[in-house]
Order: sequence, then C-alpha cells, then structure tokens
Amino acid sequence: TRVEKGGYKHFMAKEIAEQPAVLGDALRHYLGETGQITLPGGGIDFTGVSRLTMVACGTAYLACMTAKYWIEQLAGLPVDVDIASEFRYREPPIPEGTLAVFVSQSGETADTLAALRYCTGRAQRIVSVVNVAESSIARESDLALPILAGAEIGVASTKAFTCQLAVLALVALEAARQRGTLDAATLAAHVQDLRSMPGRLNAAMATEATVAETARRLAEAEDVLFLGRGTMYPLALEGALKLKEISYIHAEGYASGELKHGPIALVDKTVPVIVMAPHDRLFDKTVSNMQEVMARGGKVLLITDAKGAAEAGEGVWQTLVLPEAPELFAPILYALPAQLLAYHTAVAKGTDVDQPRNLAKSVTVE
Ligand code: G6P
Repeated sequence: TRVEKGGYKHFMAKEIAEQPAVLGDALRHYLGETGQITLPGGGIDFTGVSRLTMVACGTAYLACMTAKYWIEQLAGLPVDVDIASEFRYREPPIPEGTLAVFVSQSGETADTLAALRYCTGRAQRIVSVVNVAESSIARESDLALPILAGAEIGVASTKAFTCQLAVLALVALEAARQRGTLDAATLAAHVQDLRSMPGRLNAAMATEATVAETARRLAEAEDVLFLGRGTMYPLALEGALKLKEISYIHAEGYASGELKHGPIALVDKTVPVIVMAPHDRLFDKTVSNMQEVMARGGKVLLITDAKGAAEAGEGVWQTLVLPEAPELFAPILYALPAQLLAYHTAVAKGTDVDQPRNLAKSVTVE
C-alpha cells in the first residue's frame, strides 16, 4: 500500500503528528483493557537472566540507551548498550544469563543483523524490537516485539523512536514484575503513567507554533549543544542527531555533568545550548550547569515543564514549556520538541527534510 502525506508538507511532519495515535495503538496492543502486560509468543522469561545486552544503530541505539535507565532502575538488571558496528567486530564475551535485545525500525540494518547473528552463533536467546514485522531481524529472533508505528517514510526516525521507547518501557516493567522488584501497586501506577503518555504528547503538539518560531532563530546557528541528565541525556543525543541529520547544523549532545569536561570551551554567544530538563530530582543540578553556560554568554533554550520554568530563574534566552510528565516516562514526551525543533529548523533552512543528503532510511550495506 502506498503511504500518502495526508495534507502534510513532509512525511516527517505527518509522522511526528501521528505519534499520539500510534503510541496509543502500541500500548493498547500490549496492555489491552486490563493493563496486564501481554507479550507475544509466551513473552520473555526473565528467570536466569542476570543482565541484558542491547544493540542497535542510530536513533534505535538511543532508544536502547534510554531503556538502560528504566531496566536498571525498575528491574535491577544491569544493561550494556552497544552500537552494532562496534559490537560485531569487538566480538565481546557474552556471559551466561545474558539476554540479547536488538532494536531496529527497518529490521534490515546490516550491522544490527550481523550483531544479532554473532549472538545466535553463541546460542543466545534473541529478542528484537522492530517496526517491520516480516524483516530479517524479526525472523531471526526467538521473539520479535512489534512497535506498531506503521510505515515510517521520513529518513529521520520519529514515531518509531517513541514507539520503541513504549515497548522497551513495557519490557522493563515486565522484567520488574517477574523479578518482584516492584510491588503490584507501584507496577500498576507505572502502567497507568505509561498509558497517559499519548494524551500528554497530544497536548505537547500545541507547542509547535512556538517551536517553529524558535527554530527560525536556530537556523542561523552553526553549532548547537544539547544537554541533559539521566534519561534526558540520551534525549539530548537524539535532539542533536535529528538536528544535524536534517538541518545540517553541527550539533552535539552531552550529559550535563560533562559540560565542564569539554563542551564548555565552545560556549559563546553564537552557540545555542538546548537544555532538556523536566522538573525532576536532577533539575537543580542541570540548572547549575545552565548557569555555567549563561555566565559565559551562552544562549540557553530551556525545554522544561511549568514548575521548571518557574524555578529556572533569570537569563534564559528562551523557555519552551511542555506538559507535566511522570518522571520515568518523560523521555517519551521530550522526544517531541527534539523532533519538532529539528523539523522546523530544516524547513527554515529549506533542506530536503524527508530525504536528507547522504543518508538512507535503511542501511543494508556496511
Ligand atoms: C539510519 C536511519 C535512522 C535509523 C538508523 C537505524 O541511519 O536514517 O533513522 O535510526 O538507520 O535504523 P533501524 O532501521 O535499524 O532502526
């Protein structure tokens, strides 16, 4: 079936806007009416699993990085996250009790597939999280978890990322349930929080006009820094990746705490610093990093919630206020401004948003 733009200027815009709907579909698929997590094919048996190795490329890799925070915190299982091209040639030892998880929108990325085969060759149990259900990666897995995002045409991944996050959040919650690291009431509350995310994403779409205005100014920058702590760290990397992919502006994502170990040397009034910081337990730490930037003349764009905006203080170049989100699942919400900023910056620059130069949707060669 041919996918149409449905009135949008670009597939990317359509796919960004679809997220509340497809995320809702994915969550309903796994949670039904009851809120009980149901994975296909007998699910994942976490008995005997003592660690996870997660492998992917690009945006899917950043979904894995986010999931590491969830799985470690909720289920108490250590997680290694690896870039597929590094994993496959490093040929890492795989201790007994490892569950190997591969995340891929297309299910055809050559490096990810090769990494999967490396694990198959070592008799690992393979779980994949894929969008294309009939893909090579899905077929070669013991269990494939579909993300149900629907066809994604824009080269820069958007709705696949948020749906990957949703499915990985469910995997983390299921691991916690089986391992007894969360009591039933806390687990149910987290499930409820997760189910509230499509509505919050929908509400956050209302920021689009403001984001577009900010993006017009961002389009003049030559370098942009993204900062975040905790789960906002992988989101900072995703914000930078999206921006460089489609607007061709040099962008880097950093863990806020690493600012003083390098990127602060770049800060001056020409470098916008985008700080992703919901008002969570790490907020104060991030604010102090933000002040270090402002003290050096840096222009800060703070992406936060109403509480964060009220507390952040003076001197911020611009503040983008998102709806509140449960701390754990805030990354699903903060993906949206990262995508919208990149999108509108690219539109302002007049680049080919859906087909950025030198990039491919599915990298099936090495
Ligand atoms: C390419 C795409 C990215 C994607 C990455 C991994 O670089 O442009 O959007 O994140 O491949 O692709 P996969 O299909 O394995 O998720």
